[in-house]
Amino acid sequence: MKASESPSANADLVLFTAKDQFTTRPFRASEFDGELGSSALYHAEDRLEIHIGLGQQESLSGHSYRLAAAHAARKATAAGSTEIALDISETEEFVSEIAEGLLMGFYRFDQFRSDTPEQSLKKVTLVGPKKTLKSTRAQIARGIAIGSSISYCRELGNLPGNEIYPEKLALEARQIAESDVVKCKIWNLAGLKREHFGGIVAVGAGSANEPRLIRLDYNSGSRGVPTVAVVGKAITFDSGGLCIKPGEHMDEMKFDKMGGCAVLGVLRAVLSLKTRANVIGILAAAENMTGSSAYRPGDILRSYDGKTIEVANTDAEGRIVLADALGYVREKVKPDLVIDLATLTGACVVALGEERAGLFSKDETISQLLCSVGDQIGEKVWPLPVGDEFDEMITSKVADVRNLGSTRWGGASTAASFLLKWTDGLKHVHLDIAGPAMSSKERFYRSEGASGFGVNLVVRFIEKWAESFQNL
Ligand code: BES
Ligand code: MN
Ligand code: ZN
Repeated sequence: MKASESPSANADLVLFTAKDQFTTRPFRASEFDGELGSSALYHAEDRLEIHIGLGQQESLSGHSYRLAAAHAARKATAAGSTEIALDISETEEFVSEIAEGLLMGFYRFDQFRSDTPEQSLKKVTLVGPKKTLKSTRAQIARGIAIGSSISYCRELGNLPGNEIYPEKLALEARQIAESDVVKCKIWNLAGLKREHFGGIVAVGAGSANEPRLIRLDYNSGSRGVPTVAVVGKAITFDSGGLCIKPGEHMDEMKFDKMGGCAVLGVLRAVLSLKTRANVIGILAAAENMTGSSAYRPGDILRSYDGKTIEVANTDAEGRIVLADALGYVREKVKPDLVIDLATLTGACVVALGEERAGLFSKDETISQLLCSVGDQIGEKVWPLPVGDEFDEMITSKVADVRNLGSTRWGGASTAASFLLKWTDGLKHVHLDIAGPAMSSKERFYRSEGASGFGVNLVVRFIEKWAESFQNL
């Protein structure tokens, strides 16, 4: 993606049109009226024009441009454009969203296909006036940083269990830490056992692919900035363990690592954005399988902070690995805030559908800020309850806590209340992303498969939270 004052001669043109701008020539209103999600192609003499609807003028926001840009990217790809140009002189304040949207729309998981077309897009030129180009360039760079981190998260997420497992996620983390401002620490199986990460060790025990705990530290280099820990569930494949899942849709459980992939995406983004906050990423990575040393229903585990867990169901493994990670964060990191992202429960998808993540927290201010950031950028979250009524459901007769509720009702809240037992005294938000982490079909900026949900939300949330930290 390049900023320039004029497009090259053979670039196809992308043109945005709002719904009430009566300039939809060369089309009739019945063909193209600028509705959001609509588009039309016009073969001009020398180039193709790709007209994209923005929706109603009065409701235009940055997000309208993100959507429209993603749509443009899809249409250009489908039309076989190798070069496109987009005039941003009227929309300079939204260039970051436009860059993000273009990248999101171009993303495709095709590295394993032999038949990918040669003819693909090679160059995007954003055309604007000369005088404002410098600040505009910075905004474009910002959009590229976020957009490419979303694509990175999607690509890792779409890789299947035979291609990516805990050790590979650790290698990805090491690559991010090649920069001086990010440090990386990895616990292998021996290290996990030595330091008593009893939950991660148990969940990973049934797989030939050993578990890992991964820590990445981004240091902003500025004084007086707050520290946030971002923790991700990274189950590279969830078969359910001995409480095995039904075969139908089991393939989708390669997406059970999306919380962890989002954490890697966040670290990659804050590094290139030079975010003014210290960000510590933690991935609890394991593969939940059924091997002969797999953990069993009835087992009693000791987690990192010493609390014991009765395993009622080996398929409720996410909360077990997160208990270790959150206990570690509370004892060793002591951040100003911890956010965890996890594809934790099917119950959350039943409650909120496939587009919204469940938000669980006892902190009103943080919850509200996350909700409003999510609404702005189209990564929506919705608050669900935690607390005493659910704590009752996870009491155990033989251990400190049980990994399954006493009834099947309120499953997303019992899982969240389980996690909260490991974050006592910390500001903590849990995001259950089981719904929006993956998409069964392509829609606007969502590609089919891993969505990258959480990267943009957490990055923008951290920026806003850190800015106002003194006042919170
Ligand atoms: N990874 C699943 C949750 C999930 C389900 C994510 C569907 C995405 C789509 C999790 O580990 C799990 O299996 N949860 C169980 C919990 C139950 C055993 C208490 C569930 O939701 O059924
Ligand atoms: Mn499971
Ligand atoms: Zn799982």
